[in-house]
Formats: sequence, structure tokens, C-alpha cells
Amino acid sequence: MSEFETISIEKRGRVAILTIDRPEKLNALNSAVHREGVAALDMLKNDESVRVLVITGSGEKAFIAGADISEFEGKTPVSQRATFFDRTLFNSIDSFPKPVIAMVNGFCLGGGNELALACDLRICSENARFSQPEINLGIMPGGGGTQRLTRLIGEGRAMEMILLGDMIGAEDALRFGLVNHVYPADQLEAETMKLAEKIADKAPIALQLCKEAVKFASRSDLDEGLRREVDLFAICFSTEDKKEGVSAFLEKRKPEFKGR
Ligand code: COA
Repeated sequence: MSEFETISIEKRGRVAILTIDRPEKLNALNSAVHREGVAALDMLKNDESVRVLVITGSGEKAFIAGADISEFEGKTPVSQRATFFDRTLFNSIDSFPKPVIAMVNGFCLGGGNELALACDLRICSENARFSQPEINLGIMPGGGGTQRLTRLIGEGRAMEMILLGDMIGAEDALRFGLVNHVYPADQLEAETMKLAEKIADKAPIALQLCKEAVKFASRSDLDEGLRREVDLFAICFSTEDKKEGVSAFLEKRKPEFKGR
């Protein structure tokens, strides 16, 4: 997949790692990253050999330091709205059918935090720093920050992050529920891969349906969500993987899921 200039893709077994590769600009999200990222995700979602996706940033310093501020100049409201509303990386991650883990290795700011929020799990290094700093530029989050952050950590904490625009450290991010786990920087990749491989062992169709059901929880009322859950639960009963999972349990062996 060498056709990309701003991202790179590596496959390690059943885990694909997508790296935003602009370390000299702290991996800021410009329109090329969005374009190439969306194209890569379109490919990876149809690649049966990939069961879990990890997204990270290149270099030691940053996951992603936000939207590329240099692209804000000269933008009209209409063109800026289209950039953030159309085929964005945020939307492609949100609708990606396989589990996505953000491996946050440093600054996770603005659009970077919004990208991490679109992922299913967030794992970070002890030196990671999180912020929605848009207010300091006289603007506001536009890539899902006000919506996904609020749903994840609650209105009071989201309001404080968004109104102040200050950075918080990894321990606060863990306490707020913004990240799932924190590791020393030199263990981040190994621990993230361990988690990714553990998920990759599970039944792919059931994983996809779990994602759909959990995401629906914050986008519907309880009755609608419970109805959707039972429909998705029933679909699991049509899969070979359900037969394999149940047989393996009864035969006291490890299941081998095929995604069928
Ligand atoms: N957009 C475009 N370029 C960015 C960027 C962004 N969001 N964040 C960092 N960069 C660039 C810097 O301009 C600099 O480029 P240069 O070397 O050509 O001048 C390079 O990345 C390194 O950043 P620098 O500011 O020199 O590093 P630092 O260690 O002094 O500071 C930060 C790190 C993250 C605190 C600082 O870069 C920053 O505040 N970035 C903007 C964060 C932000 O507001 N993001 C939200 C955008 S809506």
C-alpha cells in the first residue's frame, strides 16, 4: 500500500496498523491525511485477513496535534463545513466494521482527540496529553468533539475541556474514562498489540454486531436500543462462528472463529 504519502499501513498477522505519518507537523490532520485515510479504511474493511485496526501517529512526540491549522486560512464557511462533514476520517473510523484501537503516543489534541474518540478503544502512553484546544484559536471542535467527548466522559468534564482548552495528562484521561489503559511509553506498542491480538481471536461477525449495538446505545432511547440489541443478538445465531463457539465450549477446547 505504498501509494500513500501521509499515512502508512503495516499488517502484523490479523492486526493492521495505520500510522499518520507527518511527524514534522506532529501528524496534524490535513486534507491529504483525510483523503488517504478514508481510502485506506475502505480497503481494510474489505480485507478479510484484517480483524482489528490500530491507529497511531509517527514519531515519539505526538499521536496527532489536531487539524492542520495552516489549512484553516482562506477557507470559507461552506468549504470548511464540507471538509469536516463529508468523507472525513472521523466518519470512516466511526462506521468501520471491525474494532479500532487508538494507540495514543503523545499529544492528542483537537482533531487528534476527535479521531481517538471515533475509535472503539483508546490506549495511551504515560506522556500522552489530551485537549480540545479549539477555543484558543477562537473556534470550536468540529470533528465530533462536542458530541463524542460528552457522551464518553459526561457533560461537566467535556464542558471543562472544551471551554478551557487546557491539556490534561494520561492519569486524568484514565480517571475521566477518556482512555481505557495507560502504559509507560516503551510498553505502549507491545501492550496495544496484545490487546489487539486478543480481540482478533474473537468471532468477527459478533464483534461487528457488538460494535453496532454499543454505538447505538448513545444514539437511541433505551427501548429502541434494546430492540436493536435483540435483533443483532438473533443474527449471531445464523453464523458458523456461533456453532463453533458453543461446540468449543462443550468440547473444552479453544474456538477457531472464521468470520462466517
Ligand atoms: N497544525 C499545523 N501544524 C502544526 C500543528 C497543527 N495543529 N501542530 C503542530 N504543528 C507544527 C508546528 O507549526 C511546527 O511546524 P514548523 O516546525 O514548520 O514550525 C511543528 O508542527 C512542530 O510543532 P511545535 O509547535 O514547534 O512543537 P512544540 O513542542 O513547541 O509544541 C504543541 C507542541 C502541540 C504544544 C504545539 O505544536 C501546538 O500547540 N500545536 C497546535 C495544537 C492545536 O491547537 N491543535 C488544534 C487545532 S484545531
